[in-house]
Amino acid sequence: MSDLAFDDMAGTYDATFTNTKVGRALREIVWSRLEQVFRPSQRILELGCGTGEDAVRLASSGVSVVATDPSSRMIQMAHSKARMADCQQRIEFRCVAMEDVGSFADGEVFDGVLSNFGAVNCAQNLQTLIADVADRLSPGAPLLWVVMGRHAPWEWFWYIARGQWRKAWRRLRAGGTPWRGMTISYPTPAQLRSLLRPYFTVTRLAPLGVVLPPSYAAAWLDRSPIAMSILTCLERWAQRSSMLASWSDHFIVEAVRLPP
Ligand SMILES: C[S@@+](CC[C@H](N)C(=O)[O-])C[C@H]1O[C@@H](n2cnc3c(N)ncnc32)[C@H](O)[C@@H]1O
Repeated sequence: MSDLAFDDMAGTYDATFTNTKVGRALREIVWSRLEQVFRPSQRILELGCGTGEDAVRLASSGVSVVATDPSSRMIQMAHSKARMADCQQRIEFRCVAMEDVGSFADGEVFDGVLSNFGAVNCAQNLQTLIADVADRLSPGAPLLWVVMGRHAPWEWFWYIARGQWRKAWRRLRAGGTPWRGMTISYPTPAQLRSLLRPYFTVTRLAPLGVVLPPSYAAAWLDRSPIAMSILTCLERWAQRSSMLASWSDHFIVEAVRLPP
């Protein structure tokens, strides 16, 4: 079902998220980490590449990317973005779900794995995904995932102020939240760290979207460039606090593959 759910969103995803001021500010923070974590000439796996923003960014800086997504519409958009940026020779697109990683060709390994803006929240089983991904990484290979967190105060305030209580607490449902035929799970940073532990050492946890509001709550910032720059500065400053990772819309987890 996820392919259908995201097929419907593919045409508007960049307008409603990627190219909003908040979307850009948050992605810039992620990009500053990508530059630190992945190196030119590495070949990395991206899970849930969406419209290809990160794949194109990495490929333009010399990293080869196997960019995967089960939504054929998302892959189409990513493909045309790569052609326009003239970096398609460094991106191999595969229209597959992350659940298919275990069935890639025998012996196929990657120098790192990326997943941005909540794609791994769509995983049917995070524990299985982590084991499958670990099998595809060489020891020392980096992992960078941006995951939707469980406790998101901005979301609480936004929906409570509108009397939408069920939406305000949607991330707290035991067993995940049904959404367009899928179940979305919202692990805390501590839960994800413990799922990663058998295969990875977590090297960094940081908040994303702790000061800046989610894009659906950010239209007012378009009218206030001063507020936007102040909140962006504070968001960058908050990157230093791993504690805030438990209280943000998304969080960034960075880890390194342990030797088997
Ligand atoms: C919120 S979007 C994020 C897209 C992109 N990573 C970005 O940074 O803009 C989530 C993406 O996850 C993909 N997705 C959903 N279920 C998935 C699955 N089981 N395996 C891989 N990707 C999935 C969707 O098709 C969608 O493109």
